[in-house]
Amino acid sequence: MRRRRCWSSCCWVVWMTEVLRGLLVGASLLVTMQAGAADGGDDSRQRVEMPAQAVELLRAEMRAHTLALAEVSGLLAEGRFEEAAAAADAGIGFGSMGQQRGNPDAPGRHMPAAMHRLGIGMHDAANQWSEAIRSGDGKRIFAGYQAVMNACVSCHMAYRVR
Ligand code: HEC
Repeated sequence: MRRRRCWSSCCWVVWMTEVLRGLLVGASLLVTMQAGAADGGDDSRQRVEMPAQAVELLRAEMRAHTLALAEVSGLLAEGRFEEAAAAADAGIGFGSMGQQRGNPDAPGRHMPAAMHRLGIGMHDAANQWSEAIRSGDGKRIFAGYQAVMNACVSCHMAYRVR
């Protein structure tokens, strides 16, 4: 009983603060990316050449990952751990991988090896986050969330496709 009350009051506040912080960092990152591209300013990301169709697929997958993050956060806020874990697996984890198998425009085929490894690292981090969520241990859940966020950010800081 006491653990539940803690989760729904103090832990919830910490969680929402983390989520908001993550969203702010993500938003400012995208704004910085746009600004860098627009004024040709300090953008040290490596540009990866991909066919236009692969770029569109990559961007659509990215938007789906963002949506999944929001879905998992919402389910966690409601204490629906099992559904949150499933959503993390399906939307960001290995469940979201290989959907373009056999497609020559699959974004993964056009990534340099190091970038591809970052992508696999993101799927892996999401699956570990999912396990942490299933454990119901708040500390592990926050750590898992941070690892997923780090996976997004480390690739975004290193590569661009436009
Ligand atoms: C393996 C590298 C990689 C990982 C990991 C990655 N991204 Fe991306 N993401 C990119 C690239 C490259 C772009 C395109 C940047 C550009 O416009 O040149 C992008 C763009 C985006 C966009 C903009 C989509 C659009 O419509 O233009 C969003 C949103 C996004 N990523 C969210 C995420 C989230 C959330 C995660 C983590 C759960 C994540 N990404 C993980 C490489 C990655």
